[in-house]
Amino acid sequence: MQMNNRRPLVAGNWKMNGNLALIKQIEETFSKTDISHVDVVVCPPFPYLGGFSDNDFALGGQNISHFESGAHTGETAVSMLKEMNCQYVILGHSERRADNYESNELVANKVGLALKHKLTPLFCVGEPEDIRDNGQFFDFIAEQLNAVIKEVGIAAFNDIVIAYEPIWAIGTGKTASPEQAQEVHAFIRQHLAKQDSNIANQCVILYGGSVKGSNAVELFSQPDVDGGLIGGASLNPEDFLSICLAAKR
Ligand code: PGA
Repeated sequence: MQMNNRRPLVAGNWKMNGNLALIKQIEETFSKTDISHVDVVVCPPFPYLGGFSDNDFALGGQNISHFESGAHTGETAVSMLKEMNCQYVILGHSERRADNYESNELVANKVGLALKHKLTPLFCVGEPEDIRDNGQFFDFIAEQLNAVIKEVGIAAFNDIVIAYEPIWAIGTGKTASPEQAQEVHAFIRQHLAKQDSNIANQCVILYGGSVKGSNAVELFSQPDVDGGLIGGASLNPEDFLSICLAAKR
């Protein structure tokens, strides 16, 4: 195996959950523990971004508009996330692809916009259950990756974090096995390596889908799994902390 200096990362995706009280709880829980071996990111809903103090963890948004500014009611501009101290933004999450009809091309567009504004995309890929069952999942994921490679070029993957989130594992309690996660993570790395093996080797790839304190160590110990994108369990500060502590050292 090639040497790498990938730093583990764990991101919490609150989705449309949480409140001001949860900000306090999470800040209190994390203030007592050393998490310096891992990059931790919290992605709350937009209204709560201003409620965080200076913490050991970074902030991320859950989406950006594909427009830079202007008359787009209900949208949030990438520059606004920057101004609210975000360093990351989740893009291409399967819930947005499904609920908001976000295509591979639109997601690629947003990745380009985030990079232009020096925000790190947490770029999500992952197959639905029928594609898993019919065995076409590598092709499906390759297409999602290719749209972004085509838009921003392979070199941009120096500044992109990929999250593999099989849709059948999101919020279902049905976690991918460590072997299933590793298989796809290795595939993603090989796919990038076809264009640039150094970038493939350095790219941080997270697993997401029903990660909990109880399964994080096993998932994160896989050689190509560099951390996690955590939904439900990120709403429980103790559980989220134990997942962060499970990251490789
Ligand atoms: P989950 O969600 O951890 O609740 O399965 C993961 C995600 O959607 O990012």
